[in-house]
Amino acid sequence: MDQSKLINKTKEQLKIEPNLINYEATAKDFDYKVMEQEIEFVDGKLNAAYNAVDRHLKTDRKDKPALIWCGDDNQEKIFTFEQLSKFSNKIANALVKLGAQKGDRVFIFLPRIPELYASFLGIVKTGAIAATLFAAFGPEALSDRLADSGTKFVITTSQLKSRVEEIFDDLKDLQKVLVVSDSEDCELTDYEIDFNKLIADESEEFDTVMMDPKDSCFMLYTSGTTGKPKGVVHHHYAILHEHLTAKWVLDVHDSDVYWCTADPGWVTGIAYGILGIWSAGATSIVHEGRFSAKEWYGIIDKHKVSIWYTAPTAIRMLMKEGVDELKSFDFSSLRYLCSVGEPLNPEAIKWSLDNLGLPFHDNYWQTETGGIVIANYPNMPIKPGSMGKPFPGIHAAIVDEDFNELPPGEEGNLVMKPGWPSMMKEVWNNPEKFNEYFKKGWYITGDRVKVDEDGYFWFVGRADDVINTAGHRVGPFEVESALIEHPAVCEAGVIGKPDKLFGEIIKAFIVLNKGYTLNDELMVDIKKFIKKHLSGHAYPKEIEVRDSLPKTRSGKIVRRLLKAQELGEDTGDTSTLDKD
Ligand code: WTA
Repeated sequence: MDQSKLINKTKEQLKIEPNLINYEATAKDFDYKVMEQEIEFVDGKLNAAYNAVDRHLKTDRKDKPALIWCGDDNQEKIFTFEQLSKFSNKIANALVKLGAQKGDRVFIFLPRIPELYASFLGIVKTGAIAATLFAAFGPEALSDRLADSGTKFVITTSQLKSRVEEIFDDLKDLQKVLVVSDSEDCELTDYEIDFNKLIADESEEFDTVMMDPKDSCFMLYTSGTTGKPKGVVHHHYAILHEHLTAKWVLDVHDSDVYWCTADPGWVTGIAYGILGIWSAGATSIVHEGRFSAKEWYGIIDKHKVSIWYTAPTAIRMLMKEGVDELKSFDFSSLRYLCSVGEPLNPEAIKWSLDNLGLPFHDNYWQTETGGIVIANYPNMPIKPGSMGKPFPGIHAAIVDEDFNELPPGEEGNLVMKPGWPSMMKEVWNNPEKFNEYFKKGWYITGDRVKVDEDGYFWFVGRADDVINTAGHRVGPFEVESALIEHPAVCEAGVIGKPDKLFGEIIKAFIVLNKGYTLNDELMVDIKKFIKKHLSGHAYPKEIEVRDSLPKTRSGKIVRRLLKAQELGEDTGDTSTLDKD
């Protein structure tokens, strides 16, 4: 597809007049302070969960479906805004009785069931910090996060709780594990409590704790190049940016049925699966199951989804399934498509135009930015392959290594002026790491981009070794650390290898300990070991055994070189490497 060709959208495609009518004019006069009228404060205080759900109870939205849950075997549950508010109030009451206080960390380790969404809101209403985890996490990934954050409570299921039991002894601050179970008599240890019984008699009323805008609201762990995952903490004020972007980028209107396919273990599933989206009043679909083209198309058709927010790998997986699968479904309800998490290739836009009659709108952001910062908007033509333009209120620039701003066409580091409402508040327990994000008055994204003459931003790549596989951010260090715990592995270097479907796949280079030889059995064993230690998405699809790995004189493995060798590229300056 010709990348310079603008895709203009017709009124017929948009169906409704967009919320953001004129990008340029809005960006010119934009002031977050003025926009505060969009959300509710009480004497200068606010609560993000109250803003997401409870404030709508005073309006026509009270009886509107907020959550339509699609489970396995065609199970379905619908919660109106009022029902979701009451459900979360019961959880909030129970947590307060157990001793949850402002600032306590409460982790949610649940699959995408309604309890996940109600718990998130309930925790936030108490003033505690809600933290999410992927249900695919193994004990080690859990332990890293639960121990570092000093979590007080974990909410999980009877199927998943054994992974927490395995590491319980390492978690000094963990007091109780709340267990969501289908059965009346799930076996529980002394620190486990049956979630359903716990909340059964709790009141449906709760006096939501109003917070200072800069008080902590939610946190989630994300990967960098070095060290273990870091806990990125967001404050309650983030809801303002999340609300505005849900309205102006995702274009949520009251008549829309919105579906975000992201899990709340990922920041997208929080900002645009819970907070921003409900604040904007959306009816939101949650699909518990895994990817399945047939099921996904069925959901759009059955629930008349109008706005669909997904990720490039998912779109490529749908493309791979072929067009026959599409033919038996009706997509006429769709009016607006968005994508996030990794570069959206122009072919994916072409596919959606050809098959759904609509283009995908790419947008860009990070766990740390707490909300969309660069986007394509309904009323703005798309340049296929471009992430679009900065959200009004976001001042983004492209700079060289000395933080000089670069002119259009030149590749550089993407930076932003700090201070937008959803910028992370802190890195848990790690002020040094937090400070590393800022220099010379800029927030540094770690991404390399270009801007063109028309102000459109184009993603080039990461400035560091962070891997993006199927939209999941994976730190090579985590995978390397897990690999060398296997008795056969002496050294490990991990890179992201370009892949047509997943953007990148994880490739590991390992050196075996003496006495081990390479065979299929050993490979399977190593892969199984990693899956258990990390989570499904962080395991290396390819493992290559080497006699040695390239290192600096100080002994650090040089991933850059491994990658260049893998891709058959120039290995660059190797003068500082250990050549022995
Ligand atoms: C990458 C995701 C290209 C980028 C919400 C960023 C993207 C990292 C895009 C953040 C996009 C995100 N095009 N790359 N539209 N969106 N990325 O924290 O490298 O999981 O820094 O948050 O994903 O990943 P994270």
